[in-house]
Amino acid sequence: MRPVTPFEYRDGILHCDQVALDRIAREVGTPCYVYGGGAIVRNLGIVRECFADLDPKICYAVKANANLSILRVLAREGSSFDIVSGGELYRLNRIGVAPDRIIFSGVGKAETEIDSAIQQGIFALVVESASELELIAERAGDRKARIFLRLNPEIDARTHPYISTGLRQNKFGIDLADLPAILELLHAHPTLSLIGIGSHIGSQVLDIEPFVLAFTKIRELADSLRNEGFPLTHLDLGGGFGIPYHDESPIDLPSLSAQIGRSRGNYRVVMEPGRFIVGKTGTLLTRVLHWKSNHGRHFAVVDAAMNDLIRPALYGAYHEVRTVRQRPAELRADVVGPVCESADFLAQDRDLPKLGRDDLLAVMDAGAYAFVSSSNYNARPRCAEVLVDGEQFRVVRRRETNEDLVALEIERGSSE
Ligand code: LLP
Repeated sequence: MRPVTPFEYRDGILHCDQVALDRIAREVGTPCYVYGGGAIVRNLGIVRECFADLDPKICYAVKANANLSILRVLAREGSSFDIVSGGELYRLNRIGVAPDRIIFSGVGKAETEIDSAIQQGIFALVVESASELELIAERAGDRKARIFLRLNPEIDARTHPYISTGLRQNKFGIDLADLPAILELLHAHPTLSLIGIGSHIGSQVLDIEPFVLAFTKIRELADSLRNEGFPLTHLDLGGGFGIPYHDESPIDLPSLSAQIGRSRGNYRVVMEPGRFIVGKTGTLLTRVLHWKSNHGRHFAVVDAAMNDLIRPALYGAYHEVRTVRQRPAELRADVVGPVCESADFLAQDRDLPKLGRDDLLAVMDAGAYAFVSSSNYNARPRCAEVLVDGEQFRVVRRRETNEDLVALEIERGSSE
């Protein structure tokens, strides 16, 4: 199943819904991220339709794209949310998401984060170690908390090693060998109620088999814990549904749904998709600063850089690059940023027209894990984010200024 994209050429100009990207570049400036709100809603709908027979609790993984306006779009559609920090919880609080629509994942929750989650009564804390459960018990005192256990299922999701999480060498999830200590803690603290078992095998997973294998393992564990008297009601498949960035085949969600449907029993299925919902719905709009050739290799030096989009440098990730004005390719070139690192490329060896100053490019499929992992490296202000809705668009995060860059720094003697 392929998630939808809001981007297409109309009369030779790349548009997001009905809005031409050159207009956004003119009015907002570059670089900037542009997202299509309608496509986000449609992608949530695709996940819902594919798994309609299961009626799962779909918890959008906030880490993929945490802009308040995007969270609002999803909240309005009735999505639940998966968070990994107090900051993400704060974002959801800001837009008024009900606590029963929030689960809290992550291997290292701090005391203050646990306190807020318990105090707000979120749907479940996803626990990844005996040590973490002990801390939750300590902080909860007499208060109730619902718990999911995240199992490390020792399954190879066949994705990039940096985003593979279900293998024995990964820090994530609970090793079955630690289960006795965890069960002992749960018995000793009856206010903690174990209602779910889950796993998250990795991200950008395109095969369904690893999901089915992981699901079978968590189902078996849930059954055996039910037999021990734990009130288990939920099985959490995690996130990880991949999207085609290049020429990959899309993930077969209808088959995954059918296979899980056969083995889920009377548990409610939970899932935590991030990338599938937002990945294809965003682009990084950038302007060519210079065109140069070094010893026969061509470079388009653009105004976006690795600090805006780290995925190519970090994972060798592929993002398609399109010219905003549709033009035939003439040669091969790299698209690089102004940062002083050779890893500062957005694309390498691409068929492109010969570009010149002020030509606009769109780095595609940049709706997930893109702006959220941007930085100020090289003292570059973070770029703006724009949300398109049909024929309208608005800036949903303003471009940072140079003043923003130093706003939190405390200089000694500046007032002396
Ligand atoms: N649930 C948990 C516990 C996770 O750790 C993640 C992603 C998700 C859900 C959502 O996964 P998704 O459906 O989006 O694949 N920065 C990397 C991706 C890191 C993913 C981290 N965890 C990238 O740019 O590809």
